[in-house]
Amino acid sequence: MSNYLGPHYYCPISRLCYTFQMDENELREYGHTLAYRLEAGDVIALTGELGAGKTTLTKAIAEGLGVTDTVTSPTFTLINEYYSGRLPLFHFDVYRLTDASELETLGYEEYFFGKGVTVIEWADLVSDYIPDTAIKIKIERGNSDDDRVLTEN
Ligand SMILES: Nc1ncnc2c1ncn2[C@@H]1O[C@H](COP(=O)(O)OP(=O)(O)OP(=O)(O)O)[C@@H](O)[C@H]1O
Ligand SMILES: [Mg+2]
Repeated sequence: MSNYLGPHYYCPISRLCYTFQMDENELREYGHTLAYRLEAGDVIALTGELGAGKTTLTKAIAEGLGVTDTVTSPTFTLINEYYSGRLPLFHFDVYRLTDASELETLGYEEYFFGKGVTVIEWADLVSDYIPDTAIKIKIERGNSDDDRVLTEN
């Protein structure tokens, strides 16, 4: 990755933690690359403010998995499921949950520990439910409108 900024100094020293700066095309490429190495049962926990790029990254992951459906934000439906790719993709947006425990009503375990890949937008709102093994990606705004800084750990 050309825009590798080095280990993020806020990260605990014992953990793998990388920071990248990227424009939208680079972020999409990153999503494609990430998708190629995903396996059933993987959970990707996305954090970042409104408009950070969580849905944009999820769409790129879907593309990388070969999903042919149009991927839309599950802001109101909470979960969208796609089965046309290499692995099933379960796309959560938990922004509108009134309480994290609502995940239990939604049967989250069937998704998180199932036969597909789960991507969760606003994962920090349900942090108690995020498996330790999840790929955690934080998206922050960079210096210009088109820049985002991604931290993966
Ligand atoms: N480097 C970049 N990476 C991703 N998106 C970018 C970048 N630069 C600009 N953008 C724009 O930022 C917006 C990101 O919107 P997106 O819906 O993906 O955010 P979100 O984090 O899902 O927001 P929400 O919290 O509302 O769900 C898009 O309009 C996209 O075109
Ligand atoms: Mg979104």
